[in-house]
Amino acid sequence: MFNSIRLRMTITYLLLIAVVMLVTGLILLNMLEKYYLTSAEENLERTGKLTAEFIASYLREGADAVLLSNVAENFSRQINARVIIVSPQKTVVGDSLRVGGLLGTKMEREEVQEALEGGTGRSIQYSRLSDQWVLQVSVPVEKGDTSLGAVFLSSSLKPVYQTLTAVRRFLIVSTLVAMIFAGCLVVLFAHHLTEPIKELTIAAQQMAEGKLDQKIPINSADEIGRLAQQFNIMAARVKEMNQRLTRFVGDVSHELRTPLASIHICLQSLQNYELNADEQKDFIEDINHETQRLIYLVEDLLELTRRQEVADKREILSLKVILEEVLDLTRPRVERKGLKLFSEIPGDLPCMYISSEDLKRVFFNLLDNAIKYTPTGGWLKLSAENKPDQIMITVQDTGCGIPEEAIPYLFERFYRVDKARSRYLGGTGLGLAICKEIVERYGGSIGVLETREGLGSTFFFTLPVDPSIQYYKEELEKVKEC
Ligand SMILES: Nc1ncnc2c1ncn2[C@@H]1O[C@H](COP(=O)(O)OP(=O)(O)OP(=O)(O)O)[C@@H](O)[C@H]1O
Ligand SMILES: [Mg+2]
Repeated sequence: MFNSIRLRMTITYLLLIAVVMLVTGLILLNMLEKYYLTSAEENLERTGKLTAEFIASYLREGADAVLLSNVAENFSRQINARVIIVSPQKTVVGDSLRVGGLLGTKMEREEVQEALEGGTGRSIQYSRLSDQWVLQVSVPVEKGDTSLGAVFLSSSLKPVYQTLTAVRRFLIVSTLVAMIFAGCLVVLFAHHLTEPIKELTIAAQQMAEGKLDQKIPINSADEIGRLAQQFNIMAARVKEMNQRLTRFVGDVSHELRTPLASIHICLQSLQNYELNADEQKDFIEDINHETQRLIYLVEDLLELTRRQEVADKREILSLKVILEEVLDLTRPRVERKGLKLFSEIPGDLPCMYISSEDLKRVFFNLLDNAIKYTPTGGWLKLSAENKPDQIMITVQDTGCGIPEEAIPYLFERFYRVDKARSRYLGGTGLGLAICKEIVERYGGSIGVLETREGLGSTFFFTLPVDPSIQYYKEELEKVKEC
């Protein structure tokens, strides 16, 4: 039950509102009570003093109990309080309450004692007789320094407590109204907040069940909106990766099937027909050729999948040294095919932090294509050029060229312009895809600079240059020289 954010939020907010209203209400009520009681006390004390001044003349003239009680009664009616007049010996000499009054009795009360000593006595008491709280004030009646007695006033606090009860009721009602109002708001807010989370959960569940085509609406720019946005990006990426994987597996199966089918046919022929030695040799050569293609294919596939391992083999290398090594290794094959190889390598090529295996793989793949697709008598050229923050390497040939419409697909896995021809030449269509993967891993780019059908093509790739690597290499060499 408490597993829902909406419920937890609602309860938390309601509790918070209740606690805040309760504490505020209690403090407010307490302050109000103090304020009302203090004002009532001050009022009664002021009235007591006026009464005492008036009564002083009667006491001085020795008025009797009946007169004093009449005076007390008159005051009592005006100020709405019981008025008792006490002699210096604490005897009640006048009481506004005629029936059941205290006339003639002794008043042994602390407030009276304080008034007879010249001070003002105050107290709040619960009166069982009138079943209410009463405020009592005693003030001295004096003539000069001589005490003539005291006036004791007792006033009901009912109006004060009635007001406080009304305020308390108002606070309770307003708390309830605030809680209902806030509760509705919180429920709406929580709904607004949790609805996208619900949608996200359902979409994630669907993805887990294999339904990768998920997209949830983005209704806000807040954290939840951003989460939904990231989810959509992730879902699109997963879907794309899945599609690529499916396509890749399909392509691989297709590529494997052709040589395997050829091998199968050759083996069946060898098994089922009586063949002479030359025919047998031809079939075995075919099997050998197809097996070799399978080996190349598997090697290329492995190359495409082992990214991280190669990245770990990075070191600081001189690009010029690598280029010269590649040229030396390529030259015999170029000459065998009757081609010419040119190069244009500046002396100030920078050092790079790169894996030599990676770099050579790109060079070999581009040169391999140039050799493969250039007929005897043609030439190829490997050039390097320093550019701001990067170097650009180009491989130019005078081969068959590439049709314009094929250029966008050249770097896709297994893409070949002329499938039959490439296959005949031993190509699997993975060479350029591998180059792209490597170059982009180092932050560079690769593409076709120019191509003309029947006249040749120029491929290029760039690699970013980090000047700090160059500096580091120079420092290292200085250390070695020492
Ligand atoms: N220099 C080039 N001249 C003409 N066509 C080219 C050239 N380089 C690549 N191509 C075309 O691009 C296609 C893809 O090249 P890629 O290197 O990826 O595959 P491949 O050479 O056929 O096989 P692999 O490199 O895997 O042995 C080739 O099949 C070819 O049709
Ligand atoms: Mg190739």
